[in-house]
Amino acid sequence: MKIIIINGPNLNLLGRRENDIYGDESFQEFFSKLQFKFKDLELEHFQSNIEGEIIDKIQETGYDYDGIILNAAAYTHTSVAIGDAVKAVTTPVVEVHISNTFSREDFRHVSYISPNAKGIILGFGLQSYELAVQSFLSK
Ligand code: DQA
Repeated sequence: MKIIIINGPNLNLLGRRENDIYGDESFQEFFSKLQFKFKDLELEHFQSNIEGEIIDKIQETGYDYDGIILNAAAYTHTSVAIGDAVKAVTTPVVEVHISNTFSREDFRHVSYISPNAKGIILGFGLQSYELAVQSFLSK
């Protein structure tokens, strides 16, 4: 089973960015542990700060991977184009957020991803990603 985690802008700064909200762990540290935990899966990770690169990756993987876990970060709340890409592909997309976006500013309550996501997991810290992986295992 092939699953890709696609992370959007500023998520390369995890561990160094607003630690009270996003925690102390870098994504690389967390991802190594995740790969170890799910050894039977082909788990990949892609991060970009550039909207078009995120769209390219969704298109590239969205017709033959078994799952996409997408944290589009701030683009979640602004990008019609990423929303359209999620709608276009056939691979199921699970939307993930580290923080509970509904307990934060109003502009974070809007998502262009959610209407076409298979499901949404948010507010559980980095564990949100692990729950998303598990969601693909229990069909
Ligand atoms: C985030 C929430 C977004 O509102 C924010 O812009 C991010 C991270 C999260 O994972 O909690 O960069 O997607």
